[in-house]
Amino acid sequence: MSDNHIPNHCASSSHSHPHPPTHSHDESSAYPPAGSSDIGDIYTVLSSYHCYRRLAHLSLTHTRRQTFYALPLSQQNLLSAPPISFLDTLNSLDEAVSNNADLADAIFEVSVDCFGADMEVCRDPRFGKLPNADEMEKVRSTLKQFYRDWSAEGEEERKAAYGPVKDELSRRFGEHSYEEKHSISILVPGAGLARLAFDLAVLGYTCQGNEHSFHQLMASNYILNFSPSANCHTLHPWCHTFSNHRTRSGQLKGVTIPDVHPASLLRSAGDRFSMAAGSFVREYNTPESKATFDVVATVFFIDTAVNVVDYLYTIWNALKPGGVWINTGPLLWHWEGREVVRDPGDEDADGGEKVKGVELTVEEVLVLAEKIGFKVERKGRMDRGEYVGAGEESMLKYVYEGEYWVAVKEGVEKEVKEEENDLFE
Ligand SMILES: C[S@@+](CC[C@H](N)C(=O)[O-])C[C@H]1O[C@@H](n2cnc3c(N)ncnc32)[C@H](O)[C@@H]1O
Repeated sequence: MSDNHIPNHCASSSHSHPHPPTHSHDESSAYPPAGSSDIGDIYTVLSSYHCYRRLAHLSLTHTRRQTFYALPLSQQNLLSAPPISFLDTLNSLDEAVSNNADLADAIFEVSVDCFGADMEVCRDPRFGKLPNADEMEKVRSTLKQFYRDWSAEGEEERKAAYGPVKDELSRRFGEHSYEEKHSISILVPGAGLARLAFDLAVLGYTCQGNEHSFHQLMASNYILNFSPSANCHTLHPWCHTFSNHRTRSGQLKGVTIPDVHPASLLRSAGDRFSMAAGSFVREYNTPESKATFDVVATVFFIDTAVNVVDYLYTIWNALKPGGVWINTGPLLWHWEGREVVRDPGDEDADGGEKVKGVELTVEEVLVLAEKIGFKVERKGRMDRGEYVGAGEESMLKYVYEGEYWVAVKEGVEKEVKEEENDLFE
């Protein structure tokens, strides 16, 4: 694995996050190193968390107040009278944004240090220059993601997504004691806000999450290592959009996060839990990563590949012989119709050459897996999962019927010998 990790000197315990598998406290290995092009990304992402409060108030309530006061007085009276009380709604939305912003600010505060940013730069007034709409959307969607991963109310959605992985693990290792599970190492690529990786470490497994998005890494680092107690933040996941709400209380609904106190629960996990920052293929398609994990659990992840063949080889590489790949999720190919560098997040790869995605069906992915050297042991449809995009009461919901499969790495890579594929180039 490359040394492309964020140092853990800022973290409160040995389960620091994100951190290198080799726990380096050497300041000279700080990530990203000076001059790295990633430094730009870090400041952009920091800036987007930093600006959330101002921009969310601006776009959600300020502009609507302006619209309201530009209306004819008769209409203003209609809308401001109970039970619509539109101006009260805007005040309540301001409170909701303020609560969300407390979380965004907390993420910003700890990330400056943890991600090796320069506080002087962050204090510079120019630092607060407006991030683009795309960056701000990532902040809003990351905040919303806390609902599924870290609220009590998100439990049902978590069950639908992570249940098949946990079920398969208990099928295989259910007889193991808590201590025996320590010797089973699991990799969770595209770990998002790290709930699955966290849950598996709490169950006793040795678990590493991998993630390449700084929005996600900063948010999970905060919740895992720095949130002071369970239920310490109130989050209003659905406040950012006015569409498809049956009731105003639905839009304004607040949930508390995290539903548990991660740092307390991880204390006993110590080194068994880690997060590795970086692109999956770049981090795990290496000789050092070869045959290091007993299980690779991909949840809503493989469709993030530009080239799914690269992902499958990487999973194969990271697994020990006889190791298990557990997959759940749909195939919503993230890069369909777009031209991107082959491994987004690794702009240096292939000299930044732009390519189109390789998008396969489930059948084809499984054939490919067998060709590479997996034996598909079980497969099936996931329980219907409901994605409550705009709240439980929303008029718009997404239902997915993803697939799960369990495939075992056989001893020999079948179709392509190591020297023929570009695994280690
Ligand atoms: C659809 S989300 C799923 C997140 C998480 N597994 C879950 O179920 O909540 C896909 C995640 O993979 C991450 N990701 C995408 N491409 C990646 C790559 N090449 N390396 C590492 N992470 C990646 C994204 O940043 C995102 O957090």
